[in-house]
Amino acid sequence: MSTTAAGIASIGLQLPPLFMPVTELAELRGVDPNKYTKGLGCVDIALCPAGHDAVSLAVGAAKRALSRWNGSAEDIGLVAVGTESSKDMSRPLSAWIAEELGLSGAIRSYEVKHACYGGTLALRQALEWKWSGAGAGKAALVIASDVALYSLGDPGEPTQGAGAVAMIIDQPTLASVVPTAFPFSSPAFDFWRPVGDSFPSVDGKLSLDCYKRAVMECFGSLIGDRDAHEVLSGYRWLCFHVPFPKMVKKAVIHLGEQLGWSTQEAERLYLAKVEDTLEWNQLTGNAYTASLWISVARALVGLEEGTAITAFSYGSGYGAELLQLAAGPAAASASWVSDVEEDLRVRKPVDMWGYETLRGDVRASA
Ligand code: HMG
Repeated sequence: MSTTAAGIASIGLQLPPLFMPVTELAELRGVDPNKYTKGLGCVDIALCPAGHDAVSLAVGAAKRALSRWNGSAEDIGLVAVGTESSKDMSRPLSAWIAEELGLSGAIRSYEVKHACYGGTLALRQALEWKWSGAGAGKAALVIASDVALYSLGDPGEPTQGAGAVAMIIDQPTLASVVPTAFPFSSPAFDFWRPVGDSFPSVDGKLSLDCYKRAVMECFGSLIGDRDAHEVLSGYRWLCFHVPFPKMVKKAVIHLGEQLGWSTQEAERLYLAKVEDTLEWNQLTGNAYTASLWISVARALVGLEEGTAITAFSYGSGYGAELLQLAAGPAAASASWVSDVEEDLRVRKPVDMWGYETLRGDVRASA
């Protein structure tokens, strides 16, 4: 079967209008701020006030992606939304989003769930739909959107965040994606949210081990029998799902160990190819399905056509997949940077009292 040229034609991002520095949360929780900043590598938590949620974030990101694309709403044949911030067990989040965007008609519209991996699965399905020819010349709108909140005082609280990334899958003007990818899954209860629960349950230590194993397995499949240094030198950036920035560093060091490298060698890899990709994630916190794609959007900025990067997706439960992308001719223009700059410029800080109001009465629940 011949494959149609398809890739990412447009990217739009939307960050929430509020944020709280993790140092403020540390003061509220009576924790040494270094635990959150140095121990977890976090900087800010992006927060949604009342009236903002995964739908409004998704709609904002999608409008921005659509506004910079040379097609129109009539050219969209698929809307796939990866999220773990669902509103309903039946009605897909895509229905709320499509309604706001005025998208209806001959469109396949649905929601994809696999924890933080859901956005990547939505992207893969859209690409496979295009590559197979099933899209019949239509484009896809893929959105990863989440609001990540833990229960008050949970160890995951400093890693909270929110954000959305929308991508139009059509001509690969911003990036092409290599059809061959490297998945790995192994059922586990590392992070889960039972039906009816507002916040996730987490086995923190297990989740770190699952993530590290998935990185090792996926990169192991990519590298195969080849020399790891040589393989990895072919990619300008290595992007990761970012539950909190230190997780990514831990995983890279672990990968180095498994490859028989010294810690210094793995640290050099991290500094050269990973650290800069986390810049926007540190300011949003964990945006679940959107986290990896925030990192990819940062990594694509200004890249010359043909420059290769990797994207490691992880979703608790757990499933992971390593993708390879190459920058397209329009990546150098980095038009989507203005979304992030604008949202960071206008967003307002929340202090610990504002956070208490936002989350409900902390003291009453303590
Ligand atoms: P914790 O257990 O409270 O933290 O929460 P800790 O005691 O392990 O400390 C964290 C680090 O801070 C440690 O560093 C400490 O030493 C250090 P490490 O030893 O690991 O290198 N530390 C300090 N450093 C400097 N000064 C200090 C200080 N005190 C301590 N004073 C945990 C950590 C990750 C468990 C928690 O944040 C959590 O539960 N997070 C949520 C789960 C998570 O993010 N897991 C990551 C992998 S799973 C994933 O990525 C999927 C996910 O995105 C969900 C999805 O797929 O939908 C989460």
